[in-house]
Amino acid sequence: MRSIRDIRLLADIPVLVRAALNVPVENESVVNDYRLRRALPTIQYLKERGAKVVLIGHIGEQGTETLAPVARALGKLVPDVSFFPETIGAGARAAIRSLHPGQVLVLENLRRDRREKENDSAFARELATLADIFVEDSFDTCHRVHASIVGLPKLLPSYAGLLLEEEARVLLQARAPEHPAFAVIGGAKFNTKEAVLTTLLSSYDHLFIGGALAHDFLKASGKEVGKSLVSGADEQTIKNILASPKIVLPVDALVIPAGAMGSMDARAEARIASVDDVRSDEVILDHGPATVALLKELAQKAKVILWNGPLGNYENGFIEATDALARAIAASGAYSVVGGGDTVASIQNLGLLSRFSFVSTGGGAMLDFIGNGTLPGIEALNNQPSA
Ligand code: 3PG
Repeated sequence: MRSIRDIRLLADIPVLVRAALNVPVENESVVNDYRLRRALPTIQYLKERGAKVVLIGHIGEQGTETLAPVARALGKLVPDVSFFPETIGAGARAAIRSLHPGQVLVLENLRRDRREKENDSAFARELATLADIFVEDSFDTCHRVHASIVGLPKLLPSYAGLLLEEEARVLLQARAPEHPAFAVIGGAKFNTKEAVLTTLLSSYDHLFIGGALAHDFLKASGKEVGKSLVSGADEQTIKNILASPKIVLPVDALVIPAGAMGSMDARAEARIASVDDVRSDEVILDHGPATVALLKELAQKAKVILWNGPLGNYENGFIEATDALARAIAASGAYSVVGGGDTVASIQNLGLLSRFSFVSTGGGAMLDFIGNGTLPGIEALNNQPSA
């Protein structure tokens, strides 16, 4: 990848930077600014060299949200940040022209225009009229084939930002770890994780499959999972992965009767069950203490640990196993690489962020990068017409 450090002249030059601005906002305030902090080195690098820094990015899935609170939060971390409530057009171009060297302008959510997600070339051309140079620093979205990610590098001289470079370097190393190496993949949706599971099986010594993803594997190995969330993945594909002796599955679970789901006192009805003893009318919501003990043992033995995805139904408060794993990795002394929204939230809530060797800003992007060794947004930088 061509690096931002390869750009010779930056003074007074408008530079379009795609940054990881997709952060959680509640009541018009950013509630977690981890990604914004990680965006700072590139922004500061450009500011110090007198560029006009124009930040683009998305927030939310649908494009209904605004980046205004994100610009305000960024303004608390770095001086001279303003916001413009449009993404493209004459108004945005005029706002960029009026920037002084070193000033930062955040444009409105790219996904407000549906052509962003459609990878529309006319939209990419509109974006390209805004600046002279494009810097890709939004590792978290490099797995998406969207106009700003794969279209812009065809139209402007494009470079990797400092965060993207670091993510790619560390995660490439994590694909070929020192041994013993232990990987934990949680969360749900088997189809988004098949590639990463296959890669990790070839290079790691133990691969724990947790979270709702484990339900597919427990089911395929003949266990009852009751009414637990399953992804409906092809059973033979799962069985092929299960055949590896490196696979480790949960041995017990926190379960509740399906009828108690959503009720205020669901927890009061919870019990710990062996995975051989889950009933057909129960739902698995977290791993149990025996599984946590197994995870601790594997973490203690490992030199490298890679983790992405929560172990339980984290967003509904079933956080115990996820938090226990975070503590075990922090205490292990292993080189640790983690990513994923809920995973990072757990680490932050426990105050353990500094105890991890590398915390990726990517969720799905980290999984795809580990799985494939590259991403569409990185390929777009490598395949530029002028590169
Ligand atoms: C993320 O939060 O994983 C990235 O910002 C990508 O967001 P998306 O899933 O809405 O494309």
